[in-house]
Amino acid sequence: MASIQETQYGELACLEITLGEAKLLMARQGAQVLSYSRGEEPPIIWLSPTAQGRAGRSVRGGIPVCWPWFGIFERNPKQIQGQYLGTDAPQHGLVRGVEWHLEGIEDSDAGVTLGFTAPPLSADWPAAALELRVRLDDRLHIELRSENRGAQPLYLSQALHSYYQVGDIRQARVEGLDGCHYLNTVASWDEQHRQSGQLTFNAETDRIYRDPPERLSIVDPVLARRILLTSAGAGSAVLWNPWVDKAARLSDFPADGWQQMLCIETANVLERRLALAPGRSHSLRLAIEVQPLAVISR
Ligand code: BG6
Repeated sequence: MASIQETQYGELACLEITLGEAKLLMARQGAQVLSYSRGEEPPIIWLSPTAQGRAGRSVRGGIPVCWPWFGIFERNPKQIQGQYLGTDAPQHGLVRGVEWHLEGIEDSDAGVTLGFTAPPLSADWPAAALELRVRLDDRLHIELRSENRGAQPLYLSQALHSYYQVGDIRQARVEGLDGCHYLNTVASWDEQHRQSGQLTFNAETDRIYRDPPERLSIVDPVLARRILLTSAGAGSAVLWNPWVDKAARLSDFPADGWQQMLCIETANVLERRLALAPGRSHSLRLAIEVQPLAVISR
């Protein structure tokens, strides 16, 4: 059975769940995973050492939920922009800084599951329901379910903006993207590229991959581990590391923090945005597991 404790992270009300060797810290604000670790191993999910738990602000690190749009609002498809009537359109949408409702906790032999629902959004956005379910067992499973509650088609972009911890980004690599098309948004939003082989890192990286496979992994020789990501319902993967100069400009980000993190965002963006007919729903799923590097992935 799991141990579940109410706790605080700065100003944020959180739940701390321990199940066997696994530890998960979840904030009700944004239904945001803040940290996830197993045993004495270094954390699997990176939380900035200078992060602050402030009400109304996203915490730097963990797994923020980006919804109903991803990234810079103006870079989203016109159908998404046309649905928003508000004047302030924050980067990554409307739900990462708001308090979600904890619907329930189920603790069984199969693991512990937490269900959250987002509060109704303002009248500036069409009627929609959003749920996040997090299950902890020998892996961490996350499901983000979006439902169109209105009478018109609903267009969305979204991401589970996961920050993973690595020993040294300069030695880490990502397997699984070979052959995928991507945009390198550091250079241009127009030019398509094709990934050849594994992805390694030696500069600021901000790329949107189209149609990634269901399995991606971070191979980390410094921590001698592989973080294996299995997704479903994701038409995009965003790979991000700010490197030196952008790290210096970011909030709540230590100058050398870029060395220990890598975002692989399980997403649906740009031409892979969602279009939900009235009454229809979509689930975006992600499972995270860690293997010692010597083990060949299944
Ligand atoms: C990533 C984007 O998803 O999020 C980056 O690709 C962006 O361009 C990053 O800098 C962080 O965004 P924020 O709003 O959390 O600072």
